[in-house]
Amino acid sequence: MSLKIVIFSGMNAIVFGASSGIGRELAISLSQDGYKVKITGRREELLKELCLEFPQLSYRAFDIQDLSSVENNFADMVRDFGTIDLIVHCAGVGYENPELIWEMESDTIATNVCSATKIYDLSFLLFKRQGFGHLVGISSIASLRGNRHSPAYFASKAFQVNYLESLYLKTKEVASSKVHVTDIRPGFLDTRMALGDDIFWMSPLNKAVGQIYRAIKCKRRRVYISKRWTLIAWVLKIVPSWLIKKIM
Ligand SMILES: NC(=O)c1ccc[n+]([C@@H]2O[C@H](COP(=O)([O-])OP(=O)(O)OC[C@H]3O[C@@H](n4cnc5c(N)ncnc54)[C@H](OP(=O)(O)O)[C@@H]3O)[C@@H](O)[C@H]2O)c1
Repeated sequence: MSLKIVIFSGMNAIVFGASSGIGRELAISLSQDGYKVKITGRREELLKELCLEFPQLSYRAFDIQDLSSVENNFADMVRDFGTIDLIVHCAGVGYENPELIWEMESDTIATNVCSATKIYDLSFLLFKRQGFGHLVGISSIASLRGNRHSPAYFASKAFQVNYLESLYLKTKEVASSKVHVTDIRPGFLDTRMALGDDIFWMSPLNKAVGQIYRAIKCKRRRVYISKRWTLIAWVLKIVPSWLIKKIM
């Protein structure tokens, strides 16, 4: 039997969207590093199971589309912790929606745009008051261009990237220079979110989360995950729309 001793680092974190996927794995990494972590999501059973396995974790189950619920839960988590060092916003949805079914577009915009903005703003304003803190958003390589199969998802990720950049620029207003903003841009990672079949260059979740965690520790401004997507990003930025229309 192996005995793992976790030494509490005195650091507090919140991971929004930790009932599965990237957020779940990041919350585990943080707890193993001695962080106390609040995790959120709607699937309470999954959150509860994770907290039983990792005692450094505690959870709050709520729907981030309910913006007053986000405000109340955020205030409660801040009250519980006193100060917060790190907030990772992983919660998000995405659909393949070639028929432009409104409910899917609307769900994506409500979650990835409105709720994300609420969480980014609450986090930034808290860190500004504290004089320190690190906000991490999980956007996507999808932020770089449009896509005919998932228009709302790709557009919502472009919104997130630009909003996170704006908050990064706003850190100029914090005299201490101890507020940081990181934009994580994954390619395809092996979670339920990965859209489509026969996915190109899918990265295993544990490898990707290792890279994400290192980027968070180094307080990187932005990073593509896995690293090889940096090359794809470079190509995507210069390729003309007519060529994308022809091949995708
Ligand atoms: N996997 C990829 O290939 C990939 C690539 C690029 C970017 N990303 C981004 O990475 C982030 C995490 O996704 P993932 O791949 O880890 O997928 P995931 O396993 O589906 O995780 C999404 C998380 O968001 C939470 N969530 C969604 N809607 C919510 C709502 N209304 N209220 C509260 N929580 C909500 C989910 O919790 P509940 O369902 O329990 O509410 C879940 O914990 C997303 O922003 C996604 O766009 C993923």
